[in-house]
Amino acid sequence: MRLWGGRFGVGGEGEDERVAAFTRSIDVDRELALDDLDGSIAHVRGLGRAGILADEEVTTLVDGLADLRRDVENGELRWNPALEDVHLNLESALAERLGPVAGKLHTGRSRNDQVATDLRLWTRRAIDRLDAGLVGFERALVELAERDGDAILPGTTHVQPAQPVLFGHHVLAYVEMAERDRGRLADARRRLNVSPLGSGALAGAGYPLDRERTAADLGFDGATTNSLDAVGDRDFVVETLAAVALGMVHLSRLAEEVVWWSNPRFGFVRVADAYSTGSSMMPNKKNPDPAELVRGRSAGAIAALTAILGILKGLPLGYQRDLQEDKPPLFGSVAAYEASLEIMAGLVSTLTIDRDRMRAAADEGYTTATAAADALVRRGVPFRAAHHVVGSLVARAEREAIPTLAGLPDAAIVEALRAADDPTARSLAEEPGIGAAARAAASVEGSIAAADVLGGTAPARVAAALAAVRNRLDDPG
Ligand code: ARG
Repeated sequence: MRLWGGRFGVGGEGEDERVAAFTRSIDVDRELALDDLDGSIAHVRGLGRAGILADEEVTTLVDGLADLRRDVENGELRWNPALEDVHLNLESALAERLGPVAGKLHTGRSRNDQVATDLRLWTRRAIDRLDAGLVGFERALVELAERDGDAILPGTTHVQPAQPVLFGHHVLAYVEMAERDRGRLADARRRLNVSPLGSGALAGAGYPLDRERTAADLGFDGATTNSLDAVGDRDFVVETLAAVALGMVHLSRLAEEVVWWSNPRFGFVRVADAYSTGSSMMPNKKNPDPAELVRGRSAGAIAALTAILGILKGLPLGYQRDLQEDKPPLFGSVAAYEASLEIMAGLVSTLTIDRDRMRAAADEGYTTATAAADALVRRGVPFRAAHHVVGSLVARAEREAIPTLAGLPDAAIVEALRAADDPTARSLAEEPGIGAAARAAASVEGSIAAADVLGGTAPARVAAALAAVRNRLDDPG
């Protein structure tokens, strides 16, 4: 007999196995079992405090639920697909053990406020695990920056060589992203941490329940304040999935860089064998598959966010069965993110850097041109004129196959300044030692040192940023 079967035909009349299979969710929502039992225990205590259950009934039910909890934890509870979902499975299991008193558990409660409560408890735990995963990922990045942060690589825009940066600066950019991801999860957690229990099916329970007290027992900051909203609200799923999707996108961007950097044409990094796989056909291959899969799975996280938004957009107020479809995207996405954080932390921890390859590439593409122009500006040349002078030097170096600006002879520099349509630039051409000064400004180290602003790549700025992050990780208080 189905637990909700009173108004339906007896002896299974009117039951269709295909419909049962279509509506059941036990394979997915058994993930909520522990949260469901915690919610039930708190609810039973609340019923006792309200005088609806006798003390010994409370004890019997709480003990029975605690036994069930142990069995679930040990993987000993057998799930019955005929019982539709996790809530009905657990209630039936309790009835099998305790007999009729188990029938009092669902007093003043609906699966609607029950599942909303379970899912908030589950999401809260998930966010705490993800936060720990993000901290582990940040630690791996910080350790990489501490190890190899003074290596120099060509920073790019449009995937073209742009300006040299410290490797530490590059790595710390991902710490910034991860820290924002933590903030978004914490923000979602703050808003989700209220208890729907006592909202009933939609109108509010018909018993004098102290909802605030039950909420506190479950570690919630308070109780929801509108029963209709409480049973139909999945904003917290949206917010969590939005944070997860963006976090996965960040991991995907790092994965993409690792894939390029480990290509021998770049050769900036070597991915550890443990984070690589081979080819079934090509004996030479070493592929960064884990990074590629992180990149690929970020698509699923984006899809999960659009799925929950799509589920919600047409729903009238209150609980609708569509909401059952919130779980696969939430559970799947959280699992993928958790695993991806762990994989990327491990990949980063075991990454080997080829400083020489990075350094050799750092001034390819005349990446110090901006620093050279800035040096002219400091001598009084308007920036546009300086840009033009250095641009002509780049063109000349390219024509003459001189690979870097620092390799230009005095004559070339003097000639470019004399040709400038700015009087200050032209007068600089006549200054003794101007060639050497320009070459110094156009060195990779000079270029990096010049970016000495808050958030810039100058070594002291990067060191300060690294120390601040290290401090925050070691002393989060
Ligand atoms: N399995 C359902 C879900 O996950 C539980 C709530 C069902 N409520 C109902 N009135 N049918 O949403």
